Order: sequence, then structure tokens, then C-alpha cells
Amino acid sequence: PTPDPAGIIIFGASGDLSFRKLFPSIFKLFKNRKLVNFYILGVGRTNYSDEDFREKIRESLGNNELISKFLNHVYFLSGNYDNDELYLNLKNRLENLNNKHNTKDNKLFYFATPPNIYLSIIRHLGKFELTKENENYSRIIIEKPFGRDLETAQKLDFELHRYLNENQIYRIDHYLGKETVQNILMMRFANIVFEPIWNYKYIDHIQITVAEDLGVENRVGYFENTGLLRDMFQNHILQLLTLIAMEPPASLDADMIHDEKIKILKSVRPFDIENLNDFIIRGQYTKGIINNEEKSSYIEEIGKTSTTETFLAAKLLIDNWRWSGVPFYIRTGKRLKKKVSEVAIVFKDVPHSIFSNFYPVKIEPNALVIRIQPDEGFNLILQAKQPGSKICINTLSMEFKYRNFFDYEPQDAYERLILDALLGDQTLYVRNDVMEESWKLVTPVLEYWENNNDGIYYYPSGSWGPKEADILIEKDGRKWRKL
Ligand code: BG6
Repeated sequence: PTPDPAGIIIFGASGDLSFRKLFPSIFKLFKNRKLVNFYILGVGRTNYSDEDFREKIRESLGNNELISKFLNHVYFLSGNYDNDELYLNLKNRLENLNNKHNTKDNKLFYFATPPNIYLSIIRHLGKFELTKENENYSRIIIEKPFGRDLETAQKLDFELHRYLNENQIYRIDHYLGKETVQNILMMRFANIVFEPIWNYKYIDHIQITVAEDLGVENRVGYFENTGLLRDMFQNHILQLLTLIAMEPPASLDADMIHDEKIKILKSVRPFDIENLNDFIIRGQYTKGIINNEEKSSYIEEIGKTSTTETFLAAKLLIDNWRWSGVPFYIRTGKRLKKKVSEVAIVFKDVPHSIFSNFYPVKIEPNALVIRIQPDEGFNLILQAKQPGSKICINTLSMEFKYRNFFDYEPQDAYERLILDALLGDQTLYVRNDVMEESWKLVTPVLEYWENNNDGIYYYPSGSWGPKEADILIEKDGRKWRKL
């Protein structure tokens, strides 16, 4: 489908996200003819003219005829987010651009500023009636962090709802736009073979790994103030978990999916704060070597001591009928050995092995591994007869790779998600109650860590995290998958 004509207004347009993700994605939508009648108005504090801004975009996108055509739709407005003046100018500018580009007064506002500015922007948009809808639409896409904890998230949400209905608010979690993350729904609910065994009777445990080899890079200030629990776990990881664990929704309707996510999040057993180390441990990278390159420690990078976590390992239990007793082990961190994200469904052993007398080694259990990135696809790990002597078993992996099968590079998550917001489809966005429920789960941990400096474990850059992460899973008689 092609979206209705619209203006896209990006707050924080001269920032990193805008050049790295938003413009390349919006340009692709243009290239693929998803955008015909449209304009893009960048808003920011930098004093750019329209032409300066176009030049900046040209520097990052390149220079050809199509890009020049695209840039004819791009404008810039500079000002101070706290001043009425900016929004008065914005209102006039939007009227002009709407007439010029025939966009039916449809507006999609993208909040890509630092989050401490969100409230000011939203209040001003409200004050100048820019969030009003008649025949037109007015939607906002809002980037994380959506609050710092349950209370601040609720406060922000309360303010948003003073001026907007929930169906105008698109809380973005870019993991939901990844092809392989969407594929979890297809795999589970478009096939009959998995669902009957997708429960405590057949599944031993689940491992979710979201590992990065990069450190905090140039986001020192943001990260020091945020930490990995807020940056990755509260959003991306919990969203992955809901897709793996939820019941089949009755339809693909956005609300039906969000309803199932809520049920799962409400069933996750709260962290046992008294015995926190049995359920979640936090780590921080020290110096080490990745790809033959020496990397410095987190402390060196930020230039002061800190207990901000750059790694987490956690064990979650879901207290419902389907998942009773099945642990979900999670590890995520920066400066780990390599960039890899996957979900592994590890099945139970066969109930009785007729091979055990002949084959003394423990047979590796079946597993379904969904590779989110890189090398998008999945593997089914099975046992089979190895050619040779009579009882000789070997592990094999049936492999599906997106790249080989579809001859296609996965679409960027932002491209998918911005298109969905233009189409008015909230399925891959995060509903307010889902967001709040995730905060409910992590806020007690954040509070405990804030008041207790103990219990941060160190790991060398280029490793798989601190040894305490191994202990967390090994004391249950299980092991992290080798990646
Ligand atoms: C972002 C986090 O949401 O996700 C970053 O803020 C992290 O810290 C990034 O690096 C990882 O995303 P991806 O798509 O590269 O896995």
C-alpha cells in the first residue's frame, strides 16, 4: 500500500539519528515510490538554511539526480524548543508547505531530540493546536528512552494523552521493525509444526542473546545516564520475549497483538530483589582485545568511576500454564566478542534414549535458533545417523538463510516502521500499557542498583561477559550457547 500525502516533521533533525537512520530510510521510501506528495521539515537548534540542510543530507546520502529530486522536498526550521516563537514559525511554515506539496494537512512529527525536550515540544504542539485532527491526521513517532522508570514514563504518557489519543502516538522500538523479529510471528503462527511443542512439556529453556562488539562510542553522556537495563532490556529484549512467549492472537489486528503482549508481561515473575544475583547480574567492560584491536575500559572512556552496567545476564520465569518452569535466560551487552542476536528455543531430551548404552556421550538436545542478525535466518538443530559404524549419531543443523532463499538484503527497520506510521498501522509500535508493564518489571531493579553500588562484575572487552553470568545459568545445570 501507498500512504496518503503527508508532511514529515523531524525534531532534532541535525542530530545523529536523523542522518544515520531517518534520512536514508525516508529516501528509500521515496525511491520505492511510497512517498509522492510529501515534504520533510527538519527542526533543530542549529542555524541552517534550507540549502545548508540539503547540503548536509547530500554529504551523507550522496549526490545523484534522484537525491536532488528528493531534496526538493526537504526544508529546515531553526529555533529554540522552549520558545513559542519556534512553534508560531512552525505553524506558518507547515501551512505553506502543505499548500505547496498538497499534503492534505497530514502531519507526522518525529521526536528525535534528547528526551528531556519531549515535554516542551508536546506542550507547545498542543498549545498551537498542531496535534488536532479533523479530516487530516496528526501523529507522533517518539524515540526511546520513553521515561527513565515507571513514574517518569507514566508522567510523559499523561502529558502526551492531554493532547493526543493513543492512536496518534507511535512509540518506536526499532527491533520490532527487523525482518527476523517479525518472522517470529510467521514462524509460530503460520506453521502447525511448532505450536504443539511450544510449551513447558517440550521446551527445556530459552536463550535470548543480543550481543554487540561496539562499546558506548560517542554516546558516553547518554549511556552513563541510562545503562543497559534501560537501553536494551526494558524495550528490545522484553519485546522479543513477548513475541516468543505470547499466546496466538485471534488476528493480526494491532490491539489484539498488544493485548497478548500485556498478558505475558503481567505473567513474568517480578525480580526477587532479596536474591537479585540469582536472577539478574550486571557487568561493565574493562579493557581487552576485539578483532586484534586493543579496546579501553568503560571507566577510561567516561573518565570517572561508575557503576553503570554495559552487560546484563538475567533469568526470567513466566508464571502461566504454557511456560511453567521454563526459564528464559537473557544476555546482552556491549564490547562482547561479536555482534550477534539470536533466540534459541532449546528442547528437552527425549524421554528415554535407546542409544544411551551404545553412545555414552550426552546427545545434544534439539534446538530452534532464530538468528536475528547478522546472517538473518534460522537453524533447526537435530540428531541424525552419521555414516559409518552402526550406532553413530551426529548433530546436524538444517539452515535457512534469508539472503540465500529470497536473494534479498533485509529492509532497514526504520524504513518499515516509518512507512507503517504513515499508513496508520501501530502493530509494530509499542502501546502505552505494554510500555508501562515493561517499566514495572525493571524499575525495582533500577532502584536497587541506584542505592547499592555492590554487585557490578567486570569483564574484559572481547569476552562473553563476567563469569557470574556463567554461574547464573550453570547452577541450573545449563550452559550458554557457544556463538
Ligand atoms: C539501540 C541502543 O536502541 O539499539 C543502542 O540505544 C544499541 O545502544 C542499538 O547499540 C542496537 O541496535 P542494532 O539494531 O544495531 O542491534
